Amino acid sequence: MKTLVVEHPLIAAKVTELRDKQTPMPRFQQLATELVGLLAFEATKELDVEKVEVITPVSPTMGVKLTEPLPLLVPILRAGLGMLSGMQQVIPNAEVGFLGVVRNEETLLPAIYADRMPARLDNRTVIVLDPMLATGGSLIAAIEIMLARGAKKVIAITLISAPEGVEAVGKKFANQNVTVVTSALDEKLNEHGYIVPGLGDAGDRLFGAC
Ligand code: PRP
Ligand code: URA
Repeated sequence: MKTLVVEHPLIAAKVTELRDKQTPMPRFQQLATELVGLLAFEATKELDVEKVEVITPVSPTMGVKLTEPLPLLVPILRAGLGMLSGMQQVIPNAEVGFLGVVRNEETLLPAIYADRMPARLDNRTVIVLDPMLATGGSLIAAIEIMLARGAKKVIAITLISAPEGVEAVGKKFANQNVTVVTSALDEKLNEHGYIVPGLGDAGDRLFGAC
């Protein structure tokens, strides 16, 4: 398992605005979209490509295209949905699977309530989208399903991560082809399992506390 904390002035400034409790929902959604687009640059840099010829208005030349099957995008419902359109902007033809995972706010344990992913993922790279990596329980549950279905590689893109969650995912998938790409590695979890300083409840900030 590899962890990559992407350091860049644009990312740092957008994360700061995302954290601000005054940031309204539409702006929060826009920032999540923009951030995932920037993180995608790092997260996808090892995707396989193959050579193709392209004819410019001036001459033929060689270029590349992403090798198929393209990565499968999997937003973790519900907060991960806030990152989907940003990722689709950079890989528009990617298929999308959905996994619903909710954390019990008392036990902090994850429960899977929706699974609309392919039954087999052999030979596929999966890009998991979830803004928050807190205890790591939700991401571990999601990655376990993907590896059990044969995924060759899992790349998880998160906006804010806690050291406790990164450590838990790292321990669980120490020898597996799993990468976590994040825009911020925060200080700690508080007694309620929330990331400090974090940004609060990502799902509520994206979609409302319904
Ligand atoms: C949040 C977040 C992650 C999870 C992280 O989802 O989007 O999926 O918590 O916590 P963990 O690392 O301790 O498991 P939540 O369960 O609040 O559901 P939601 O997306 O529907 O709001
Ligand atoms: N889920 C969130 O949305 N925020 C946290 O800080 C932790 C889990």
